[in-house]
Amino acid sequence: MRDLYIRSMSLREMPPADSWLSALPVVRHLAAEGLTFHRQVTFLVGENGAGKSTLIEALAISQGFNAEGGSRNFNFTTAATHSDLHSYLRVTRGAAYPRTGYFLRAESFYNVATNIDELGVQAGYGHESLHSRSHGESFLTLAEVRFHGKGLYLLDEPEAALSPTGMIRFIRRMHELVEDDSQFIISTHSPMLITYPDAEIFQLSEKGIETVPFKETSHYRTTLRFLQNPEQAMADILGYEIEDD
Ligand SMILES: Nc1ncnc2c1ncn2[C@@H]1O[C@H](COP(=O)(O)OP(=O)(O)OP(=O)(O)O)[C@@H](O)[C@H]1O
Ligand SMILES: [Mg+2]
Repeated sequence: MRDLYIRSMSLREMPPADSWLSALPVVRHLAAEGLTFHRQVTFLVGENGAGKSTLIEALAISQGFNAEGGSRNFNFTTAATHSDLHSYLRVTRGAAYPRTGYFLRAESFYNVATNIDELGVQAGYGHESLHSRSHGESFLTLAEVRFHGKGLYLLDEPEAALSPTGMIRFIRRMHELVEDDSQFIISTHSPMLITYPDAEIFQLSEKGIETVPFKETSHYRTTLRFLQNPEQAMADILGYEIEDD
């Protein structure tokens, strides 16, 4: 097992009691028990609003990434919407420092593409403006051209850009980078992505943070139940009976 760039995270102190952060179960869990990473690929799963983006963004800022996404070379801001959780974090790093890295913030990939154009550094991104490609194409270009080995990658819902075949391409690329000593911490709702072998899945909920096998996540179970019998699943959701013919 390779050493990790990020070994664990916890809180030095709780945010003020009247802050929305201190009401989040995942923040209380970090303060009480912390979170230890054991694998090169970690997934954060959980319902909408569980705190995945808040956690990954705070970790990214604490590691010197721009709050709006990008590599460590980006320092633009368009709207300072990030929380100040990063200022309460204690992060334990491994012995080696990552050679490269990237923070993908789901909501601001567009701004990162604009910033690449403004900096004139398209050469590192496949020589063309990411704006001239679709969302998924530009994300795959990013992963295939700009991501390198021995990197730390913090990704918030990479599936937002990807078709199922695009996801398969991304999983292949991620695996190459893992084989070349990279670490990924990814928030996701993708039942395909979380089946990646040897990954650890942290499920965030009102109970805090727990480790679950992928087959026990609601992402996997709900999708499986749906796809096994889509007509019946839709009838159950919409409350009608399927007539026999
Ligand atoms: N600036 C803010 N002020 C108050 N509450 C906030 C703020 N930012 C986030 N929250 C709350 O914190 C909670 C966690 O939000 P977060 O974006 O981390 O969820 P998430 O797990 O990433 O959800 P999703 O799956 O929808 O992306 C949500 O209930 C949200 O309303
Ligand atoms: Mg989110």
